[in-house]
Amino acid sequence: MATINDHYLKLKAGYLFPEIARRVSAFAAEHPDAPIIRLGIGDVTEPLPQACRSAMIRAVEDMGDRAHFKGYGPEQGYDWLRGAIATHDFQSRGCPIEASEIFISDGSKCDTGNLLDIFGNHNVIAVTDPVYPVYVDTNVMAGHTGEANEKGEYGGLVYLPITAENQFTAQIPSQKVDLIYLCFPNNPTGATATKAHLTAWVDYAKANGSIIFFDAAYEAFITDPSVPHSIYQIEGARDCAIEFRSFSKNAGFTGTRCAFTVVPKTLTAKAADGSDVELWKLWNRRQSTKFNGVSYIVQRGAEAVYSPEGQAQTKALVDFYMENAKIIREQLAAAGIQVYGGTNAPYVWVKTPNNLSSWDFFDKLLNVCNVVGTPGSGFGAAGEGYFRISAFNSRENVNEAMRRITESFKV
Ligand code: MLT
Repeated sequence: MATINDHYLKLKAGYLFPEIARRVSAFAAEHPDAPIIRLGIGDVTEPLPQACRSAMIRAVEDMGDRAHFKGYGPEQGYDWLRGAIATHDFQSRGCPIEASEIFISDGSKCDTGNLLDIFGNHNVIAVTDPVYPVYVDTNVMAGHTGEANEKGEYGGLVYLPITAENQFTAQIPSQKVDLIYLCFPNNPTGATATKAHLTAWVDYAKANGSIIFFDAAYEAFITDPSVPHSIYQIEGARDCAIEFRSFSKNAGFTGTRCAFTVVPKTLTAKAADGSDVELWKLWNRRQSTKFNGVSYIVQRGAEAVYSPEGQAQTKALVDFYMENAKIIREQLAAAGIQVYGGTNAPYVWVKTPNNLSSWDFFDKLLNVCNVVGTPGSGFGAAGEGYFRISAFNSRENVNEAMRRITESFKV
């Protein structure tokens, strides 16, 4: 008789975003005329930059021409894209990252989960609370946790609360942990980490032989020039950190799919016999075996992000969403609602008015305003009493959603 991976049975019923979609669909079925505005999942709404579209159209033409046709590409990505990334995203900021250390993929969500393939089953794992749920659920699936308690916290994980009291940045743990997930600019709180804070993490990781999984999917939204865009801006990070980046949010690739993960060749972890093993080699082996690379057409589209036109057009996209974030912040604050984030990230983290629980506020907002957001408690126990509003939508929808919310929830 076939058996299942029992660890899946420990997972809470639904992944947060499909669960929200389920509740919204049920509401829409009962209220077919409700003019629902979705500010829940951080999915982009604005068209792909012209430079990316033109590059992809040219790439489609290449595929119709025997001389330029491409079959299987390199599993790690084409050198021209890896080179453009290394130059523009890292070397230009003084980060010592080489093209060969960049692995092109179809998403940071996939990579943060897949990366667990190359780590052992007995690492002590730390996550922030609240946290992007993928980091937790993929560890549950891999059998790295115990059961969830009534607050939804899984046994065996170390939770690092990020709260208003610590400016939503994780305290360095007093105990020793082996793998640490950090996401800055932060999803869901929109907070950033200072250079000093990241330096403290790198020092901790180096002292303890830990590896930091640094998710920088939202780095393009940083407006404060003092905030680091990459963990490799911190000295020593090459020896203790893997970084995840994505074209989803800066260039609107959520439906097109392209991202990359940086695994420095100097990064090692221990084998059972105590020897040091290069993680680059293991990840390269894993990707060559389980992944066939991102399509040539999509990689050409991503490469165009680094052209002068692509840079101007992606900046305009980011600026557009950040203006939405500013509107959300200002409108809610004017209505007396406490807001955080939204200045270096496309997410505004809201203290729920009238001490409503996160899900009660979700239901009220949906029923009264027909606006969808994301309950903070869905990101972890410390997110209770908070609510995330995404700036990814049209200006018209953001203005209308704020009009409805501020009219209904003035405090
Ligand atoms: C979110 O809403 O947090 C995003 O959709 C995360 C993601 O890109 O997977």
